[in-house]
Amino acid sequence: MLVAGNWKMNTDVPEGRALADAIAEGLSSTAADRGDVDFLVCPPYVHLPAVREALADVPVAVGAQDMHAQDEGAYTGDVSAPMLSSIGCDAVILGHSERRTYYDETDAEVNAKAQQARAHDLVPIVCVGETLEQRKAGEADTVVRSQVDGALSDVSIDGADELIVAYEPIWAIGTGESAAAEQAQAMHAVIRDDLRERYGGDVADEVPLLYGGSMKPHNAYGLLSQPDIDGGLIGSASLEAESFLGIAEKA
Ligand code: G3P
Repeated sequence: MLVAGNWKMNTDVPEGRALADAIAEGLSSTAADRGDVDFLVCPPYVHLPAVREALADVPVAVGAQDMHAQDEGAYTGDVSAPMLSSIGCDAVILGHSERRTYYDETDAEVNAKAQQARAHDLVPIVCVGETLEQRKAGEADTVVRSQVDGALSDVSIDGADELIVAYEPIWAIGTGESAAAEQAQAMHAVIRDDLRERYGGDVADEVPLLYGGSMKPHNAYGLLSQPDIDGGLIGSASLEAESFLGIAEKA
């Protein structure tokens, strides 16, 4: 079970450091209750060294929220995979719906970044999800399968620990209302089938499929008890250590 926090564009560096310290403190005091839950936090780029340091003594991986597809070059404002690897990043969120929406990010761009992430031993967290209009039109499965196929074309993995897929129905992100557990499970099963076709059952069945979209402590148990939901990609509830760790207690 993986509980991952996507901090998005929230907290300044001192606040982010304090949040990471609070997560570390919470984990240190509840180590026995943690069970088989793994943790990952994805702060803004500028926080990464401080957050990495704050979490050095607890089992929490650190990831980025995006990256460029090239190693280096004239890409003002961008951050590369070698830079992320050099500060101890383990993973990177790719293709989040907010980047697809606000920056017109395409499946092809997500695919190039996923290949680049693997080339630098970063675990791509590939985000997929449909709009409410697509769901109402009965197109959700087709849209999500297309996004998975587009993002993972020519992306090879040797093991399930080299890929994470996050299903984030766009209509549930930031709304406070998650998808129903059965709805989320149905889409996770579609994604699992697609991964089985791509990587074979032995690997695909172990690739973590995270649900994202208003997961909170009060609804986490219903979602995390589904057979193909292997964790959560948490937005707003990851900005408070108590709610972030509280979700893990439901796992
Ligand atoms: O990447 C996770 C994020 O999109 C979910 O946000 O605030 O609905 O938990 P939130």
